[in-house]
Amino acid sequence: MPKIRFDEQIARRYDETSADWYQPTVLEPAVHFLADLTGDGAALEFGIGTGRLALPLRSRGIRVHGIDLSEPMLDQLRRKSGSEQIGLTVGDFVTTRVDGSFRLTYLVYNTITNLTTQDEQVACFRNAAAHLEPGGCFVIEVFVPGLRRIPPGERVRAFDVRPSHLGFDEYTDFVGQILYSHHYWIEDSELRTFSAPYRYVWPSELDLMARLAGMTLRERWAGWTREPFTDASTSHVSVWEKTAEMNRYGNPAGSPA
Ligand SMILES: C[S@@+](CC[C@H](N)C(=O)[O-])C[C@H]1O[C@@H](n2cnc3c(N)ncnc32)[C@H](O)[C@@H]1O
Repeated sequence: MPKIRFDEQIARRYDETSADWYQPTVLEPAVHFLADLTGDGAALEFGIGTGRLALPLRSRGIRVHGIDLSEPMLDQLRRKSGSEQIGLTVGDFVTTRVDGSFRLTYLVYNTITNLTTQDEQVACFRNAAAHLEPGGCFVIEVFVPGLRRIPPGERVRAFDVRPSHLGFDEYTDFVGQILYSHHYWIEDSELRTFSAPYRYVWPSELDLMARLAGMTLRERWAGWTREPFTDASTSHVSVWEKTAEMNRYGNPAGSPA
């Protein structure tokens, strides 16, 4: 199992520190988008966390199942009304299989970058596809790598400078596509810090991972309200459709190997 980053302390404050992601202008279009794709099928969330999206989807009548590594995050979810109607599995979404097939699998809030190797990201696409019914979709919401903002010779860029929080991205490996995000804030009059590695990944590389998993790009937008994706977009919402069943060797089913 990978190391659990979302420990007790992070989980307890997750909803408060993610307040921007709970804004109705952010949340409602995302729920609407995902609900549309799920229709009368079922949805599987990779990294369900505290249920930010799963709960409103469930309250629209959609059957939702979630996988997450972090018991503390799932405990926060279990305390919320409606959570008893959501299936939960503790596990790594790279390898964990749950029963049933789904119209939609989704992985939001930049969480694909928590997987810090290309192999894990590829395996995650394969696992997402393996849960989909034919024609089902895999949706990812993730930032576009911000390398154009890093001048030659530099490695660090501030992404949040407020009295309540300082955040810096440190690009430690331009070959392996690794950055560390460093956070500093004051809580109970004490300085708190949190740093973690992320593997940033290009949209085109994600498309290739999808192809390896038997999926094809269907839509790419700059956000949940379907704003056009351009070379100035800082993040994207991408939808890949399952177009082929793959065998265990990663080849289309029916091939010799
Ligand atoms: C940024 S939070 C997002 C939570 C929720 N999807 C949301 O939008 O609010 C990322 C979540 O993914 C989980 N996670 C990260 N890597 C994981 C992995 N490899 N397998 C399962 N869960 C993972 C974390 O424990 C955490 O709950």
